[in-house]
Amino acid sequence: MENPFSLVGKNIVITGASSGIGRQTAVICSQMGARVVLIARNNERLKETLSLMQSPESHLVYSVDLAELSGIEAAIKEAVVNMGKLHGLVNAAGISTTLPLKLISNDKLDEFFRTNVYSAIQMSKLFSKQANVSNEGGSVILFSSVMGIVGETGKTLYSLAKGALIPAAKSMALEFASKKIRFNAISPGVVVTPMSQKAIYSQDEESLNKITALHPLGLGKPEDIANACVYLLSDAARWVTGSNLIIDGGYTAR
Ligand SMILES: NC(=O)c1ccc[n+]([C@@H]2O[C@H](COP(=O)([O-])OP(=O)(O)OC[C@H]3O[C@@H](n4cnc5c(N)ncnc54)[C@H](OP(=O)(O)O)[C@@H]3O)[C@@H](O)[C@H]2O)c1
Repeated sequence: MENPFSLVGKNIVITGASSGIGRQTAVICSQMGARVVLIARNNERLKETLSLMQSPESHLVYSVDLAELSGIEAAIKEAVVNMGKLHGLVNAAGISTTLPLKLISNDKLDEFFRTNVYSAIQMSKLFSKQANVSNEGGSVILFSSVMGIVGETGKTLYSLAKGALIPAAKSMALEFASKKIRFNAISPGVVVTPMSQKAIYSQDEESLNKITALHPLGLGKPEDIANACVYLLSDAARWVTGSNLIIDGGYTAR
């Protein structure tokens, strides 16, 4: 029997592949048989990801600053020439902060929207081009957060940027359904990665215990999210579009 979760024969682009969730998604996608295009800024850490993957020689690495986006079109074009058309896009690149309202300037808003929102929209646009996407269609994942659904003190900036992606996934899902390109969001709770380890709630034991207690199943691991990416990228999810998959150890269950 054919495995509906297999990614054999699929070409998947993953942004944020140099760290955390994006890195783990790249590793698991390679184990499931995909060829992967790894994108982030830090070339050394991208190469580290590559060294953890199955068949490292069959993947491509591009060091690109997604806040600027210059070079991304050429990179995707080159990837399509080398690998063939694309079947999946995981927009895992992102930045996070905890900041009181009085410190949210327009420059900060711009910085957060550039990396978390504009880059995901521009990548989705590039992916969906007829020249780039497989004739059978494709699957795009946008990374939101539980902070895109509920609030927390100091999370206004992050919530604004992450919340924008959930309805965007729904509208793009409708716009591209006829082309069989599916768009879904994933909203994780706190997952242990360099991002959450740098966060203010990880700086002392008391704060970390408090945030952990808000997750009935404890904090997540990158593979808890990467496995869901495999599902959404695979043919097992061929009828899933416009959804927001909350994976949060029960954080929003209350
Ligand atoms: N960890 C959590 O608790 C959590 C919870 C909810 C949602 N999320 C979301 O999940 C996604 C992955 O988070 P993570 O925890 O894996 O974070 P992470 O470990 O900090 O990784 C973030 C990734 O984004 C890349 N990136 C950041 N700015 C970039 C830019 N300007 N251009 C290109 N790449 C850029 C980084 O690569 P370079 O530095 O090499 O560029 C890195 O690979 C993010 O969108 C995050 O908002 C995370």
